[in-house]
Amino acid sequence: MSDAHPVARWDTDFDVLDPAYVNDPFAIWDQLRRSCPVAHTDRRGSTWLPTRYRDVVDLAHDIDHFSSEQISVIPFEGGPRDEPVLAYGLPPISADPPLHTWTRRLLLPWFSHRRVESYEPLTRRLCADLVAGFADQGTADAAAGYAQQIPVRVIASILGVPSELSDTFTGWVRDVLEFADDPERRQHGAEALVGYFGAEVEKRSAEPGDDLLSDLLHSEFDGAPVERSVVLGIAALVLIAGVDTTWSAIGSSLWHLATHPEDRARLASDPAAMPLAVEELLRAYSPVTMARVVTGDVEFRGCPMKAGDKVLMNFPGANRDPEMFDDADRVVLDRELNRHVAFGSGIHRCAGSNLARMELRVALEEWLARIPEFRLADGAEVTWAGGQVRGPRSIPVVFP
Ligand code: HEM
Repeated sequence: MSDAHPVARWDTDFDVLDPAYVNDPFAIWDQLRRSCPVAHTDRRGSTWLPTRYRDVVDLAHDIDHFSSEQISVIPFEGGPRDEPVLAYGLPPISADPPLHTWTRRLLLPWFSHRRVESYEPLTRRLCADLVAGFADQGTADAAAGYAQQIPVRVIASILGVPSELSDTFTGWVRDVLEFADDPERRQHGAEALVGYFGAEVEKRSAEPGDDLLSDLLHSEFDGAPVERSVVLGIAALVLIAGVDTTWSAIGSSLWHLATHPEDRARLASDPAAMPLAVEELLRAYSPVTMARVVTGDVEFRGCPMKAGDKVLMNFPGANRDPEMFDDADRVVLDRELNRHVAFGSGIHRCAGSNLARMELRVALEEWLARIPEFRLADGAEVTWAGGQVRGPRSIPVVFP
């Protein structure tokens, strides 16, 4: 469990689960960039935290020294049954080449521009139905009642599993990511996910469908069918990577609009502003931090990193670096120069970025079409989750 005493020094003893970091990491990164751009902690094992854009990108590209075999920001400290749930982990995200290369190739066609266009009508219907459910009530929870409901249903339809189980899937994904600091809960989520997909794989081998799971099961590598545990790992990854991440991005964007009336009015009245706005909201509120494990002793920017140390791929912090972005801490909806790394950089760059962008755009479009004016409810308590994925879990809003 977490080493929960409050942080006094962010440069030598940071804690990404400290409420100060979860609620407002931006000022902490600013301070670190100026005083100690690669911070360190011994909480949950020796771990480094870069805060500059250039450093994060360089780390992401150095796959020889920084391996993806351990990508959890919160290390697994042993649950009731301390054994790996999947022999090959969650490829491609938790793999280095060569396993990474061919498993990523299996997945990419499902998230191409053209495929993603075919998921748009379903996404739009889903968003419109959700908004219709509360638009006349004058109040809603933009996170739990809207953002959280969208990506899981889209992913379920791509995987070919019933969207009626969405709440169950969401619960498992939260166990694995949001409650990663609770070994029992984390193990329960991982086992439930793998158990469920294991049974679904059995069904598909007898009766293939027109879905990602069937496609994986019937694909080949090096002339042989892909092993079951690899199929399971990829399927579990798609659910884990495709749910919490995008829901957090949608939620943060709605939170921003609820608290910045001029940006809300601009987007509501000018749909052409949406594409640049989506990129800017992704930059400013990047939800995903990943980890790497150091493969052998190495010095990086003067820091003596040891084999087995963790390095946090602070993509959200990189996106707030003033060396890279003018006025980095301000949301500029029509920012044109925006080479953000919300989706990572290098060989592990997000395989689902087309889908994530479409979902975020459609979710905002459908909300603003029905509810162009909204703000936080008086005395609203907005709660944030952090760690691997940062995003709001409750955003009480009101509207006329
Ligand atoms: C706003 C939403 C999303 C964000 C911010 C995001 C972010 C990221 C990041 C930062 C990585 C790089 C990981 C690393 O360097 O270790 C990544 C990888 C990945 N993401 Fe996403 N993601 C999002 C949505 C999605 C969706 C909807 C899917 C759908 C399946 C998805 C699937 C993946 C996969 C499969 C990988 C692994 C790629 C590889 O290792 O080659 N992501 N994502």
